[in-house]
Amino acid sequence: LAGQFQPKRLAGLKVLITAGPTFEAIDAVRGISNQSSGKMGYAVARAALEAGAEVTLVSGPTCLKPPRGARTIPIVSTQQMLDAVEAEVDAADIFISVAAVADYYVLNPSESKIKKDAHILTLELAPNPDILANVTSRAKPPFCVGFAAEAENLEEYAELKRRRKHLPLIVANAVQEAIGTDEVELLLLDDAGKHTLARADKLTQARRLIAHIAQIYNAQHP
Ligand code: CTP
Ligand code: CA
Repeated sequence: LAGQFQPKRLAGLKVLITAGPTFEAIDAVRGISNQSSGKMGYAVARAALEAGAEVTLVSGPTCLKPPRGARTIPIVSTQQMLDAVEAEVDAADIFISVAAVADYYVLNPSESKIKKDAHILTLELAPNPDILANVTSRAKPPFCVGFAAEAENLEEYAELKRRRKHLPLIVANAVQEAIGTDEVELLLLDDAGKHTLARADKLTQARRLIAHIAQIYNAQHP
């Protein structure tokens, strides 16, 4: 119910969000992926809807129900997520990259199921494209928000990531506590400085984040 009383800070704006993990096939049944429940990305989608935005959610495999009112595009691999984002990003005013994208894909996945044997199996992994960096390097990027999951030196590494990817705003969290849990503390880093969102459930954090994004975006687009 709380959602109904959220101010419509993003009315008339189109928000593109990636969520969940991406999955890279090894063979017909196996693959490599990242640990991600998708909860944070789905909460951000819901908070953006509550704020009056038109939401497109590009989602890797999760167990979650798509948020009502969002246009959800299900994908599996990183290449599929990139293709979906490239098809949608021109229409977007704001891009929020919450997905835990697999950094590598398997070079020669087998079409059939590999039979196990007693030998060592070697996989060749090649780096995936960086979806967010692809978006920020476009001629006219939307307002881009990244996430940074860091195991150490949270603020320093996240700020480096923010600069490297040319992001006006990055949301940092500690991997130790972020994955699968329901309550997180977030650190927002932007051009004006840093801002801590005290530990709370992911929907509360998503609402606070959307309010912060709307404040910066609306100040830049009077
Ligand atoms: N991201 C992306 N495409 C990738 C990798 C990351 O769009 N191939 C996005 C994530 O959605 C996130 C941000 O980039 O918003 C940072 O992701 P993260 O994994 O923390 O950083 P990386 O640049 O991949 O560096 P590393 O994993 O080595 O820390
Ligand atoms: Ca990564």
